[in-house]
Amino acid sequence: MRYIGVDIGGMSIKAGLTDEKGNILLKKSIVTRATEPGENIVADIAALVKDVAAVGGLAVADIDGVGLGSPGSVDDAAGVIRYSCNINFRKTPVVELLREALGIDNVKISNDANCAALGETLFGAGRGAGNSVTVTLGTGVGTGIVVDGKLLTGNCSAGAEGGHVQLGLGGPLCGCGKRGHFEAYASTTALLRQTEDAMKKHPESALNTVAKERGFDGKTVFIAAKQGDKVAKRVLNRYIYYVGVGLVSFANVFYPEVFIIGGGISKEGDTLIVPLQKFVSENVYGAEYNPPIKVVAATLGNDAGIIGAAALAMK
Ligand code: BGC
Repeated sequence: MRYIGVDIGGMSIKAGLTDEKGNILLKKSIVTRATEPGENIVADIAALVKDVAAVGGLAVADIDGVGLGSPGSVDDAAGVIRYSCNINFRKTPVVELLREALGIDNVKISNDANCAALGETLFGAGRGAGNSVTVTLGTGVGTGIVVDGKLLTGNCSAGAEGGHVQLGLGGPLCGCGKRGHFEAYASTTALLRQTEDAMKKHPESALNTVAKERGFDGKTVFIAAKQGDKVAKRVLNRYIYYVGVGLVSFANVFYPEVFIIGGGISKEGDTLIVPLQKFVSENVYGAEYNPPIKVVAATLGNDAGIIGAAALAMK
């Protein structure tokens, strides 16, 4: 069997050809034209899917199904992205448009973090855990919440928007236009902003030399911190604290067995996971008396979204 999973992100759209076991056979990506009308973005996705099929030596008609994960409120049943704050989807009937463009029937869609959670539950770190919360740290922050073996998505699958949980009153501006949301502290967009602020305030910091040498991105702070730079360490510790506060808030509501941390930043591994584990263990309600909560990096890494999206079409 052959499936194509599409992970729609604020910066790039990634598509992977998979088998029925969630193995990715090949991957391609394009830049997200995030401010274009949603229909144009869907046209880009259709072209990408065709390209992936062709590179895999297949006609689109040979694909057993296409699954998509998108940021925002997705009406899974209707196949419509109702709203996304970081990409210009507004009541976009993605499934209908793609069925037409691709000429295949089995096209499914869900929220991107729900897809990541599905991928990890079926093939990754969430296997065997009836209760897990997958948190994807990227342009936005997404949460896929599994309770008693089922994804919790709320009415019309509009819920489970953990990135928009209020962490601060006032506070930094979120991609959705409101202030103080978890995403405004814990997304990679927020980490970049926190790093840039520190670079301006501390021109002597290794952050500036690292950025000059290899370009400025999400890794800048991790590299400078590994070099022992005090300012970078402070930025990183603060960022990890923000993520930790969010995790503890989710823990106190859902009490998962495991938190699965996804998104590109999960590649940083123990630098991120070890302090997060410590913070959650120390700060969750009733920590000494309740079962421990594990914090792990997504086993499927940044591919969790693609694999989970493909898994939508396997059902
Ligand atoms: C969106 C979520 C999405 C997350 C990660 C947030 O801004 O509201 O729906 O899961 O970003 O992409």
